[in-house]
Formats: sequence, structure tokens, C-alpha cells
Amino acid sequence: MSAQGRTEAAGWAIDAHNLRKSFGGREVVRGISLKVRRGEIYGFLGPNGSGKTTTIRMLCGLLTPSGGGGRCLGYDIVRESRMIRLHVGYMTQQFSLYSDLTVGENLAFVARVYGMARPVELAERTAREMGLGARLNQLAGTLSGGWKQRLALAACTLHDPQLLLLDEPTAGVDPKARRDFWDSIHALASRGVTVLVSTHYMDEAERCHELAYIYKGRILANGPVDRIVAQSGLAAFSISGGRGLDDLARHLAGLPQVESVTFRGDEMHVAGRAGKALADAVHAACKARRLTCTADAPTLEDVFIHFMEDRPKVCGGEAGA
Ligand SMILES: Nc1ncnc2c1ncn2[C@@H]1O[C@H](COP(=O)(O)OP(=O)(O)OP(=O)(O)O)[C@@H](O)[C@H]1O
Ligand SMILES: [Mg+2]
Repeated sequence: MSAQGRTEAAGWAIDAHNLRKSFGGREVVRGISLKVRRGEIYGFLGPNGSGKTTTIRMLCGLLTPSGGGGRCLGYDIVRESRMIRLHVGYMTQQFSLYSDLTVGENLAFVARVYGMARPVELAERTAREMGLGARLNQLAGTLSGGWKQRLALAACTLHDPQLLLLDEPTAGVDPKARRDFWDSIHALASRGVTVLVSTHYMDEAERCHELAYIYKGRILANGPVDRIVAQSGLAAFSISGGRGLDDLARHLAGLPQVESVTFRGDEMHVAGRAGKALADAVHAACKARRLTCTADAPTLEDVFIHFMEDRPKVCGGEAGA
């Protein structure tokens, strides 16, 4: 069986190993291995500059890895990048369509680039499917942010790709438009399209089947959200009861066993390494201030803060200022 056949038989849309990339002697992707099943939505998370875009660009053959390699849709990412580009839809981090063309013209242009038959008809049909039918004749530059992202998604799905690489597709988009956008992503996945999507939003991370957290060019954790949280070894508490939360936040942030303190309206969420030391310290501090403390589930955000070397301990309250 050919290498392509083997990868497809195993059901991997992406199968990359030990990817590395250096720019001017600085290594920014430092050994990333990634397997993504067909039809899966796979999230890519990590702070700014951690190497998400660089990895995505290597996967679709736009950047040559400095080391490692792999296959995308069964094609070698170095030697068969032309085939990958034909079967992959890549939505770049910046809106990259023509502002002075209409929605319909932009889509028809992309259809022609891919050599699709009847580009105008295809553009109109895709626009309707993506809810852009009423905006066909509107200049792309005059669309709101949410509609621009939707147009960009339409443009990268027009040639019926089997794999979508979406780089922060909903950055700066309002919650309703983000929900609609994610409904479209799930609809595409249910038709068998594989989606690799980078995001900084925790709610979006939770909508992925699996995800990888990248930090300084390396994957620190990967798998389904529940497993990542369960394996983190963190415990969390919810604290409420009125005044004194700010003082408590300052106190808790100073304790070595506490990793993060997050204000949520009138409540406070505290996370740290699970164990007696954390529980005793939090309960004692709450008792002294007559505040109510209950066990809470650690969140994905707690886990990501846990991974940061220079973690910001207090989030959302005066104590964090
Ligand atoms: N063409 C390039 N030349 C030199 N350095 C680059 C180039 N592209 C990326 N870098 C550097 O590589 C590192 C990783 O960048 P990358 O864009 O992959 O991060 P990212 O995780 O996508 O970040 P963000 O969340 O801000 O989009 C950064 O330090 C960036 O400055
Ligand atoms: Mg990026």
C-alpha cells in the first residue's frame, strides 16, 4: 500500500511529526507532532507568537519545515504541497479578499482561481448556502466584521476542500456571529470535512473534538477538553459572600499553592495544584473573612494559565491591577 493509502486507511487527515521551523536562526516551532482524524474539529490554542500560524502554514505547504515532516490528506507536506493546496481551504488570519469587489465577484474570482466550472453560478450558490445571498452585490469592504469572516469562510470552502485550516477565523467578531460561524463549522464537519482551527476563545476551544495547547513552539497538552482538564492535576474553588473578596484575592495570590484567581461578578474562582495544602489554605482564608467556599470544577482557562511561566495570578478584579 502507498504511503498515501496507509495514512488514509488510518483515518488521519493530518499526520505530522516533529515539525520544526526557524527564522533567522531562531526556532519558533520546536518539534510539533499532530494527528487529526478525518471529520474532526481540532483546536489550536496558545499565546501570541507561540507558533500556531507558522505550523498551519507548514501543514498546507506554504512554508517549508526546517525539520520533521508529515502528510496532509495523504500528501507529503514538502513534496506534494501543490496537491495539498488543491484539497485544502486555508483561511488566513487577516481578511484577504478584495475590498473593492462585491461578495459575488470575490467568490467568482476564487472559483476561477481553482478552475471551477461555472464560477458565477457556484459563487451565487455558495453565497446562499453561507447566508450571504442578500449581500451578493455588496462591496466586501463595506461588510461588518462578522460578514467578512463569513465571506472568507465561503471563499475557502468553494472548491469543496476535504480539510479546512482556519487561522483565528472569529477574531474580533461578536458572540452571535461567532455562534453562527461555529454552527457552519460543525455542519461542515458533519459532512466529513476536517477542520483545524486556531483560536484564543475558551468557549470555541470547548466546541472542538480535540485540541492542542501550544506554548513557545511546543505542544504542552493535547486531547479532548475533558481529558486535558482532568490530567492537569488542578482543583478549584468558588468563593462568595459579599465584601472582602478583593483582600482575599490579594492574600490567595500570594500563596505558592494558588495559581490563579478570577473574579466572576460577585464571586471568585480560585485554582491551583490539587491537594490538602490548597484546600486548607483556601478554606482557612475564607473562614477568617466569613466567606462561603465551595468546590468548583477547574476550567480550561485555569489549565492554560497553569502552563504559563509568567502567569498573571489575578484576573478581573482590583487586586489584579
Ligand atoms: N516570516 C517570518 N519571519 C520571521 N519571524 C517570523 C515569521 N513568521 C513568524 N515569525 C515569528 O515566529 C513566531 C511565531 O509566530 P506565529 O505567527 O506562528 O505565532 P502565532 O501563534 O500564530 O501567534 P498569534 O496568536 O499572534 O497569531 C513569532 O515570534 C513571530 O514573530
Ligand atoms: Mg497566528
